[in-house]
Amino acid sequence: MDPVWIIAVIIWAFLIAYIITWIISGLIGAPWVPTDIETINKMLVMADVKPGEVLYDLGSGDGRVIMEAARKFQARSVGVELNPIMVLWASLKIASSGLIGKAKVVWSNFFSADLRKADVITLYLLQTTNERLEPKLKKELKPGSRVVSHVFTFKDWIPVKADTQSQIYLYIA
Ligand SMILES: C[S@@+](CC[C@H](N)C(=O)[O-])C[C@H]1O[C@@H](n2cnc3c(N)ncnc32)[C@H](O)[C@@H]1O
Repeated sequence: MDPVWIIAVIIWAFLIAYIITWIISGLIGAPWVPTDIETINKMLVMADVKPGEVLYDLGSGDGRVIMEAARKFQARSVGVELNPIMVLWASLKIASSGLIGKAKVVWSNFFSADLRKADVITLYLLQTTNERLEPKLKKELKPGSRVVSHVFTFKDWIPVKADTQSQIYLYIA
C-alpha cells in the first residue's frame, strides 16, 4: 500500500476516534470546551490555591487547568479525564512542560473517582452534570475544601463568592 494512503488512513482513524470520544464524553458528562487561561487564573485565585495543596480538575481536557495550578500556584494537581485522546494529549503537554511529578492526568470517570484527598476541585462541565456531582462532592470532600465552578452552579448549594462577569462560583464543603 502507498505510504501516503497509510498516513491518510491513520489521520482519518484518529479523527473519527476523536469525534466518537468527544460525543461519548459529552453524553456522559460534558464535551471538551476549554476554559481560557485568564479565567483559569481567576478561578485559582478565587479558590485561594496554596503551594502543596491537592487540586483535582474533574474533566481535565487538555490539562490546562492542572498545568496552570502546578506552574503558577505550586499545587499538586490531578486531572480526571474520560476521553483517552485528551488524556494522551494532556500527558504529552505535561511531560514537555517539565511538570512531571507536579501535575498528572488519570484516565477515569469522575463519578467514580476518589476525591477525599482534594483541597480544591475545579469544574467546567454542564448544569445537569454539576447537579449529579453535588451529592458526591458533599459526601466525599473534607470540610473546608473549595469547589470552584466555571459557568455552572449547583442545585442546593449556595456559593460563598461569585464573579458574575466571568461566571465563576466558589463553594466550601
Ligand atoms: C468543558 S471540558 C473542560 C476542560 C477543562 N477542565 C477546562 O476547563 O479547560 C469538560 C471535560 O470533561 C470531560 N468529561 C466529561 N465527562 C466526564 C466524566 N464522566 N469523567 C471524566 N471526564 C469527563 C470531557 O471529555 C472534557 O474534556
